[in-house]
Amino acid sequence: MVDAFKQARRDADTLTVAFGDESIPMLLTYRGVRAAAKDWQTFSSDAPFRVPIPSEEAERSVRQLPIETDPPVHQKYRALVEPFFRRPTQADYVTRIEGLVRSILSSCSAADQVDVVRDVALPIQSRALTYLLGVPESEAETWIGWGTHVFRDGGDSAEKGAGLEGYLRAAIEAAKADVDVENFFVALHAMAYEGRPLTEAEKLGMANLVFAGGRDTVINSISFLMAYFAEHPDALARTAGSQMSINLAVEETIRVVSPLTHIGRVCKHAVELGGTQVPYGQRVSLCWAAANYDPAIFSNPEQVNLARSPNPHVGFGSGVHNCLGAGQARAILRSLIRVLADLKIDISVRDMVPVRERFGEIERQVGYERLLVRLLRAP
Ligand code: HEM
Repeated sequence: MVDAFKQARRDADTLTVAFGDESIPMLLTYRGVRAAAKDWQTFSSDAPFRVPIPSEEAERSVRQLPIETDPPVHQKYRALVEPFFRRPTQADYVTRIEGLVRSILSSCSAADQVDVVRDVALPIQSRALTYLLGVPESEAETWIGWGTHVFRDGGDSAEKGAGLEGYLRAAIEAAKADVDVENFFVALHAMAYEGRPLTEAEKLGMANLVFAGGRDTVINSISFLMAYFAEHPDALARTAGSQMSINLAVEETIRVVSPLTHIGRVCKHAVELGGTQVPYGQRVSLCWAAANYDPAIFSNPEQVNLARSPNPHVGFGSGVHNCLGAGQARAILRSLIRVLADLKIDISVRDMVPVRERFGEIERQVGYERLLVRLLRAP
C-alpha cells in the first residue's frame, strides 16, 4: 500500500490544502492527530455541516448527531443511539451477518463475472444496516439504489442529499404509527434529551449520520479485502485459521485502507500548528490516513501485515467521537474472511477502476469504482 502523505509528513507535521476556497491545515502525525482528537476544547466538533471536509451545507438541512457536537452535549446524544450500535456484540447478530455474507457470496460465485463494489459490498453493507436498525431487510433494496455514497455516488450531490432526507422524513413519520414495532425510527420518537422529546431536526440528524457514516467506508474495506485475497490467495486460509488472526487482519485492513481519510474540526481559539498561526473559527483536518502510516508508530507502514500486533490504528477515530459503527464494520469484515475461507472461494480479478481523492498535489486511493472479479468455489 502507498503512504500518500509520506513526503509531506517528512517535510512538516502539517500540510495546508485548499478545499474549494478554504485553506485547511491537515495534521499528519499520529501523535498530533491523537492529541487534537482529545482536545475538543481547542478543536471543536460543535460546527453543523463543517465536520466533514468538504462541508455539507448543500447536501443536508440538519446538524448530524451526535458527531457535530462537543461534550457534554455529545455524550447525551451518543448515549441515546448507543444501544443500537451494541447489537453486533451479540452472538446471534454475528451469525445473522455471517449468513448474509454467505448467501451473497454463494450466489455471486455462480456468476461468470461480478463487480465486488456493486454486487457484493453494497448489498452486504445495506442489508446488514437493516439488521442494525431493526427494519425489514426488503428496505435495503431502496438503499442499494442510492449507490455507494448517499451524497456523492453519481448525480448531483445536493439532489441526492435531498432524496435521502425525504426518505428519512417519511420513515420517521411512518414510525409514529408503528407502535408495536421495535426499530431505530420508532425508537427516535421515544428518545428524550434532558427530559424532553427530540425535535424533528434532532431525529433527522441522528438518522442522517447512520446512513451517511458507514457506507462507502464499509464498501471500500470489503473491496480491499477481496482484492487483497485475490492477489494473496495463500493468506486467506492462514488468516481464517483462528478468530484472533481474523481479528488482527480486520484491524490491519482498517489501518491500511483508512476508509475515512480525514475529518474536520473548528478552532475554538487561535492556535499555532507547525509554526503557522491558525485563527479562531478556521478549520483543521485530523488526517487518520496519514496518522495510520506514521513510521514513528508503525514499522514498515506501507507493508500490509495481516498479523500486525499491536496495531493502535486510528482508522475508527480516537477520543470521544470514536466510531459508533466500528462493531458493525468489524462484524461484517470478520464474517467476510470466515466465509471466503469456508466456501474456499478463489478470486481472480478481471478489471479494476480505483477511486482516488486529491489533496493538493497528493493523490490517495480510497477504494474502487469497479472491481470486476470471477469468484470460483473449490469443488
Ligand atoms: C470501516 C468502516 C468505518 C470507518 C473507517 C469509520 C470511521 C469513523 C471515524 C474516523 C469516526 C470519527 C469521526 C470524528 O472524530 O469526528 C467515525 C464516527 C462515527 N461513525 Fe464511523 N466508520 C465506519 C463505519 C461506520 C458505520 C457502519 C456506522 C453506522 C452504521 C458508523 C457511524 C458512525 C457514527 C454515528 C460516528 C459518530 C460518533 C460520535 O460522534 O460519537 N460508522 N467513524
